[in-house]
Amino acid sequence: MDYTNSRLVIETTKIEPGSVSWRSPSNIALIKYWGKHGRQLPQNPSFSFTLDQAFSETTLEYTTKTGADQGIALEFLFEGKENDAFREKVKKYLESITDIFPFLRQFNLKIRSSNSFPHSAGIASSASGMSALALCLCSLEYELFGTLEDDLAFRKKASYVARLGSGSACRSIYAKAAIWGDNPEVEAASDLYAIPYWEEIDPVFHSFHDDILIVNKSEKKVSSRAGHGLMEGNVYAEDRYRQARQRFRQLIGALKKGDLETFGRITEGEALTLHAMMMASPTPYLLLHPNTINIIQRLQDYRATSGQPIYFTLDAGPNPHILYPDSIAREAQQFIRGELSEFCVDWIEDQVGEGPLQLEEN
Ligand code: DP6
Repeated sequence: MDYTNSRLVIETTKIEPGSVSWRSPSNIALIKYWGKHGRQLPQNPSFSFTLDQAFSETTLEYTTKTGADQGIALEFLFEGKENDAFREKVKKYLESITDIFPFLRQFNLKIRSSNSFPHSAGIASSASGMSALALCLCSLEYELFGTLEDDLAFRKKASYVARLGSGSACRSIYAKAAIWGDNPEVEAASDLYAIPYWEEIDPVFHSFHDDILIVNKSEKKVSSRAGHGLMEGNVYAEDRYRQARQRFRQLIGALKKGDLETFGRITEGEALTLHAMMMASPTPYLLLHPNTINIIQRLQDYRATSGQPIYFTLDAGPNPHILYPDSIAREAQQFIRGELSEFCVDWIEDQVGEGPLQLEEN
């Protein structure tokens, strides 16, 4: 599949100024994408739940350029303020996808973006931010050329484009749950874009909870991008990719059967392996906080004594995500408030969500 399309250029400067807006959620991977190759291609398939409360809102405004300047003209406001670091990052990204959207060179662009969660909350915002931007770009293509009318085609391209900005972002395009990466179990899956995957899984997972416990708000010392890069010199890399494929197969089986115990074992295994890979990388590093460990231990003790199906996962940071089915929400939240809240500075009660939403012009 190749979205390179030199015909997507406008032939008149009489296009009225306009804007497109999307709200797009973050997602939490249960099978982790960690290690990539080529142009943002994953070393193993991943599976994620789409979240609901943790999202970005992005507006892309455009006016046609009058001069002959062929570069990307971009203004970028984050949370209402100019942000040079983000602007440079996004500008580089837009330049890298002008083979897909050549019309981007023909406009003065202004992007306004904000998150539902505090920026420094230690929550990865690249998945929600990049997916919201990719959706805006596809909406702009639709407005200018009438292409991508079909919802599936629209989402597939948005997922492809989001992937080029941040791998995990490609999974945020769909309601409830998504798969990214070639694998023998799910024929339609691809390394190039994510696909929706919820009709096949047991309804117990359709309303799963994910409470994000924030133990540390500071910015990570090592970015995910650098972390992926360090997998290249990691002596365990090939074994890790093999293990991820095997766990992916087991997780798909558990999701279909509604087997919470297997789900939990694999999910927690993935979280710990992700951090083990960081500790075992050529330049070893640690992103866990003492309170990450305190929470994990309390949670596992509570599960052992209560028998409740409550589990944790982690992304590439210190903040545990607490996962549990809706049927035990009351007990689980009581336990979190009573026994885990002392270890965190903040928390977000989130759950599996309905995916991105196009916003009306404001
Ligand atoms: C641990 O998608 O943030 O959250 O593609 O370099 O932007 P880039 O990396 P990113 O990595 C996500 C890593 C992860 C696991 C996951 O979401 O699958």
